Formats: sequence, C-alpha cells, structure tokens
Amino acid sequence: MTGRHLVLVGLPGSGKSTVGAAVAEALGRPFVDLDAVIIRRMGMPVDRIFGEFGEARFRELEREATAASLEAEPGVIAPGGGWAAQPGNLEQARRRSHLCYLRVAPGIALARAAQGPVRPLLRGGEGLARMMALLAGRESFYAQADFTVDNDHEDPATAAAEIVAWIRQADVA
Ligand code: S3P
Repeated sequence: MTGRHLVLVGLPGSGKSTVGAAVAEALGRPFVDLDAVIIRRMGMPVDRIFGEFGEARFRELEREATAASLEAEPGVIAPGGGWAAQPGNLEQARRRSHLCYLRVAPGIALARAAQGPVRPLLRGGEGLARMMALLAGRESFYAQADFTVDNDHEDPATAAAEIVAWIRQADVA
C-alpha cells in the first residue's frame, strides 16, 4: 500500500476494528480507529458525545479525525459505520486510499455490536430492524469501495488474509 491508506467501511459490528488491526499488523502499518481518536479528544464515549452535543457535532469531529488521519503516514483506517454515508468522506478518502467494504449480514453485525460499546443509533426498539434500516440507507455508499470482503466468519483472520492479498496485488498493479 505504498503511499495509500486502506479505509474499511461497513456496518457497526462488521469487524472493521478487529480485522483492521490484524491487517495493519500484517502490513506493518499503523492502525487508526477513528471513533477511538474522537473518544480520546473529547474524553468521553461516543454515546455521550451524541447525547451531549448531538450527531451533527459527532460527524464534524469525525470529518476532522478523517482529515488528520489521511495526512498521517499510510495506515489502516477504521471509521465508524456511518462515516461512508456522510457527504464528502468517501471522495476525500479515495484520493489517498484503497477502500474496502467489510460485508456482513445484519443479524451477525447486530450480535457482534451487542458485545461492544453502546451505539446510539442502535439504541432502543427492535435491533435487527434498526440494523437493516442502517444497511438500507448505507449500502449504496459501502458498495462504492474498491473491493468487498465478506466477514460473516467467526475468525477475523480469514477476512484479514483476503484483504492483505488484495492490497498486495492492488499496489503492484
Ligand atoms: C455509528 C457507528 C459507530 C460510531 C457511532 C455512529 C453509525 O461506529 O461511529 O456510534 O452511524 O453507524 P461502529 O461502526 O464502530 O460501531
């Protein structure tokens, strides 16, 4: 990935952070989790940022974290699941990155997301219906990635290996 980042897009619970960290390690590149950057900057979890400042402010912080990470040395970047659908983000990243869509069935994404931090956009109501609605609104953005890897497997190493192989051939092509 000479000179280019790899940005992973996909639903909450698609494995962007887990698979991204494994890919970064295999490639010997830094791994940047954009939610973690925002959490550090604000000193509070995403859920509280949404609650206290609103989604619009979170999206602004996300745009700033995106710009900073794209300026840094080439790495593997995992934004949150809503990032790809925000105007301008995909276009900005594409200039300096390969984009990969980590695709999972909404039910699997939901089960995995339930084990992590609270996702404000999934809170309350019927989880699967909410996850399916997120996918319906975002799939056309995720599909603009350069390549798609299915991550329905239990083991994140499978998707990570596929991505590493893709990156290696994309960078020499
Ligand atoms: C969001 C997904 C979250 C986080 C925020 C908003 C979304 O990240 O950025 O809660 O809009 O889907 P993950 O995809 O890592 O859960």
